[in-house]
This record gives sequence, structure tokens and C-alpha cells, in this order.
Amino acid sequence: MVAFAAAPSTSQGTPNLNKKIMAKEIIFSGIKPSGVPTLGNYVGAISKWAELQQKYRCFFSVVDLHAITVSQDPKELRYRTYLTTAIMLAAGIDPKKSVIFVQSHVPAHSELAWLINTQSTMGELSRMTQFKDAAAKTSKTSIGAGLFTYPTLMAADILLYDAHVVPVGDDQKQHVELARDLAQKFNHRFGKTFVVPKPLIRDSGARIMDLQNPDKKMSKSDDSDRGYILITDSPDIIRKKIMSAVTDSGRNIVFNKKHKGLYNLLTIYQVLSGQGEKQIEKHFLNKGYGQFKQELAELIIKTLSPMQTQINAYMKNTPRLDKILAQGARQANQIADLKLKEAYKKVGLVTKR
Ligand code: AMP
Ligand code: TRP
Repeated sequence: MVAFAAAPSTSQGTPNLNKKIMAKEIIFSGIKPSGVPTLGNYVGAISKWAELQQKYRCFFSVVDLHAITVSQDPKELRYRTYLTTAIMLAAGIDPKKSVIFVQSHVPAHSELAWLINTQSTMGELSRMTQFKDAAAKTSKTSIGAGLFTYPTLMAADILLYDAHVVPVGDDQKQHVELARDLAQKFNHRFGKTFVVPKPLIRDSGARIMDLQNPDKKMSKSDDSDRGYILITDSPDIIRKKIMSAVTDSGRNIVFNKKHKGLYNLLTIYQVLSGQGEKQIEKHFLNKGYGQFKQELAELIIKTLSPMQTQINAYMKNTPRLDKILAQGARQANQIADLKLKEAYKKVGLVTKR
């Protein structure tokens, strides 16, 4: 279990939420439909979200506006938006407990992002490592403006819902911390408006690494498909990818961060099995890497197979997905519109009557 201490609320919250909802702390998180979600997304984020919804009031969004900060094929983007929704549902996110919606269905996200842009500096945004990494790959003049302002849209996502806690993989920690700083800055200048959010990073599995290159994180936008496992991969492909995952030439199956490849595989095993390090090391005592990899592959297959059956059923029934997303958008819009109006008023905009 993740060690967890929620931040105290720094706002009065949104007025029309009923008492039952207000009693719970609020969680917001998102995933980009920019590729088929990977095992890294599942281990680092989605599997945790399903657990959190038992205790918190949760908002989970398929953040399509973030996805288009890099070039997307329109047909693919549409398909992956449905697929990502289906994966979230198959992973146990329950629309009766949580609000699940597509970011572009709630215009307040773009509108608050603009407001936050006007309150952010080039310096703040230039410091973001995700932007710096993207900028390093291309020339300064051709990098997309959307990539630069990506964190202000993310801050808007979080702040619209008075989220206290933002569960993310560790690559997103800096963005959540910026959202926190921007909320504090806005509150300081205009008076208490936003809850100051906190990132929630899981102890184990917050950064699942590439199977071929354990120095970089597993990513769905990678060029080579051997480094990642997609949630939709077949058992045969999963076996192949795990068996060919890079490890060193050691013999003992032990959690040692220096042995990056093996450590990464053990971390996946740990999260999916729910077992502790000692228990796992004992189980694999005197067993070789080959046997460990076989057992890991079967564990991944056992986790993903039932989800895949459900994903396929959802994908055959997109009107059902549309209905779930429409309900989510209705709930999200109601809350987000109020918060946007409150922020508009605070900065002195005359709001519509
Ligand atoms: P993205 O696919 O970038 O939209 O990420 C969605 C969520 O998955 C975010 O919370 C990320 O931090 C998390 N995530 C993405 N890749 C990984 C990974 N390799 N390991 C752990 N978490 C990840
Ligand atoms: N930027 C996040 C990622 O790449 C996705 C995201 C967008 C998000 N808005 C968010 C995550 C708000 C948490 C909260 O993974």
C-alpha cells in the first residue's frame, strides 16, 4: 500500500457538492490517449486509481487535449480515446463511484488553462523537465507551443475539481508541484480560490522501465515495440517480450537497484502479485532468471487476460462508452463551470448572468 497523507483543504470547496461527497477528499488524475496504454500505465497509475475510488471522490479523465500537443492521426486518436476509456473501465474504475470523462467534453479545462497561462511565467514553464526533454529533441523554433503550456492545462484539470490528491507516476511529479505553486500564487493574489493539491506517488512501480533499456521509462510513444508491453498484447507477445527483456548475467533473484533490468521485472512482479520483497526473493531462491521470467509472464497474462475480454466487449459497444462518457461529462461540467466562474470573478472578469 502507498503511504498516504492527504493535504488539508485550503478552499471552501465547490458549493453545490452534496454533504456525502464533501466528506471525502477529492482525487483527480488523467491519461493521454496518445498510444495504447502500457503495463507501465497500468502498474504506475490505473491499477492504483481503481483502489483509490473506494475511499475518495475521484475524477478520472482521458486527456485528449494533452494528447494533441504532439501530432496525432485523427482516426487513431478517436479510436484510442475509446480504447483508453475501455481500459479504465476494465481495470475497475466504476462510473457509479467515480466521474470518468473526456477532457475536451468539459470546455472549462481550456478556459481555466488560459487564465492560468496569464498567471504563469516563461521561467516557470521553461523549468519543466518534460518540456526540456522535448525541446532537446527538436529546434527551439519548431517546438509546439502546446507542449510549452502543457503544465498549465494540467494545472487547470486538477484545480477545477478542488482535488487534494493527484496520483501519478513519478514522471508527472514536477507538473503536480507546479500546479501546487500556481494555485498558491493565485490564492495569494486573488484570495482563496483553489485547493492546493499534492502528488501521490506509489512506493513501488511509480516508474516502470523499458524492457530493452532499463535506463528509460516504458512509454507507449516509443519507436521500438520490444521495450513495452501494451495492455492489449496477446499472451504470446507478452511471453516473447518478457523472455527477451534485458537483464544482467547474475544468478540470484534479489531486489537490487544496481541490477536495473532485473529490478524492473521484480517490481512488476511485486505490484501485480501484491507480495513483499522478502516473500518474492524466498520464492525464487535457487531458481534461475529463465524460470523467474516465465512466472512473471504468466502473472502478467493472468492480470491482463480478463481485462482484455472486457476491453473487447466495450470496444464492440461504443454507444455504451458514449453514454458513460456523456454522464461523466455532465457531472464534471457542473462542478468545473462553478469553479471557473469563481476564478473569473476573482480576476475581475464580468461573468455571464
Ligand atoms: P501518460 O501515458 O503519459 O498519459 O501517463 C498516464 C499515467 O501513467 C501518469 O500518471 C504517468 O505518470 C503514468 N505512467 C506513464 N508511464 C509510466 C511508467 N513507465 N511507469 C509508471 N507510471 C507511468
Ligand atoms: N500529464 C499527465 C501524463 O502525461 C496526464 C495528465 C493530464 C494528468 N492532466 C492531468 C495527470 C491531471 C494528473 C492530473 O501522464
